[in-house]
Amino acid sequence: MAEHFRVGGGARLAGEVQVVGAKNSVLKLMAAALLAEGTTTLTNCPEILDVPLMADVLRSLGCTVCVEGSTVTITAPSQPCERADYRSVSRLRASVCVLGPLVARCRRAVVPLPGGDAIGSRPLDMHANGLRKLGARTEINHGRVVADAEDLRGAQIWLDFPSVGATENILMAAVLAEGTTVIDNAAREPEIVDLCTMLQQMGAKIEGSGSSTLTVHGVSSLQPTEHRVIGDRIVGATWAFAAAMTQGEVTVRGVNPHHIDLVLDKLRAAGADTRTDTDSFTVAMDGRPAAVDFVTLPYPGFATDLQPMAIALSAVADGTSMITENVFEARFRFVDEMVRLGADARTDGHHAVVRGVSRLSSAPVWASDIRAGAGLVLAGLCAEGTSEVWDVEHIDRGYPRFVENLRAMGAEVSRVTTDPVR
Ligand code: EPU
Repeated sequence: MAEHFRVGGGARLAGEVQVVGAKNSVLKLMAAALLAEGTTTLTNCPEILDVPLMADVLRSLGCTVCVEGSTVTITAPSQPCERADYRSVSRLRASVCVLGPLVARCRRAVVPLPGGDAIGSRPLDMHANGLRKLGARTEINHGRVVADAEDLRGAQIWLDFPSVGATENILMAAVLAEGTTVIDNAAREPEIVDLCTMLQQMGAKIEGSGSSTLTVHGVSSLQPTEHRVIGDRIVGATWAFAAAMTQGEVTVRGVNPHHIDLVLDKLRAAGADTRTDTDSFTVAMDGRPAAVDFVTLPYPGFATDLQPMAIALSAVADGTSMITENVFEARFRFVDEMVRLGADARTDGHHAVVRGVSRLSSAPVWASDIRAGAGLVLAGLCAEGTSEVWDVEHIDRGYPRFVENLRAMGAEVSRVTTDPVR
């Protein structure tokens, strides 16, 4: 049996939606709990499958983990196990973020490579190079990363690219290294700031949080803490695109609107009205969106995770848009599914050209990853007839209560369990 979403086209989304903690923050914060013996509590956690999967990874390392609704408590032992279990890691790419904490706590880590991904290759060379600079012998062989260190010593590290994962792993190793580490060309995503905030609460000495130079003065130990996960800007922005595409009006609560400044600016350029408050924003669109161009870049650039939403918006916009993908080389793969829905889109290398049409047409389509799946559902909301979006387990991994939230905003979306059509 398989599940798919039936998506009726034509409804105008309206109302309010509450967004909870960010997937790409909570998984790293859970890994960071390994850094201090004792019990760390995380609140505002999203109820998505990746959280219990990460809990399994941590259990295999000797932690006691309790996931209860939106609260996750992790009790890390005095001596975590250094070897992550292949089966848990292979089910969750983000589990490579235990590498830094394990090297910091155990001075040894063995973490299987989680493998490729539908959005492109996901190498770990920058993670490994950073750990080497800190003094860990690090090798990638036999399908795993092995890091060994007698001592971790602060170092100057320049990243080739502001990689989110490499910044996080190096940061989590550096907080317990001896001396000062400087990470240059560090990623600046709000989820990195959230990690820095939690590490600081645990007693870490970090300067430059939110900038591209992170300076870390190592300390000998950290204490467990209690921390509220920041709201998911990617989920919030997805609802913003949905409001604009369906010519509706939606208020999104639980997200700092500054985390999506560029998204809101793009939507205004497309003709939307936006209002912001401390922890919420409203997007209203009257009429068909105008075509705008998008270029994905590390934060504060336009997020690659929102590129499918940009394609979906462009597919129904008035005019022609150029979308440039600079972060993951295979992230346009899902565009063929958009074409099934009637989008006039073609890709060439890093670029997609999308000529907006006034109405898409319903079709069965397949989600290849979380964000592609969400983008296809958004396109389905603007298609004539009822579309079917398959392989929705991808969407469930990143969007808690996806169908319920869309229905509350007036969308005709339902989850159906049936035999797959292919
Ligand atoms: N890269 C390397 N070598 C490395 C590390 C990265 O070449 O050692 C390359 C990657 O191949 C990619 C680019 O650098 O081309 C950026 O990768 P990054 O390390 O920044 O991404 P990540 O940490 O693997 C996180 C999110 C992704 C999000 C990217 C970019 C998590 C769990 N994942 O991945 O989220 O797209 O940052 O913002 O935090 C999603 O949520 O759907 C998702 C894929």
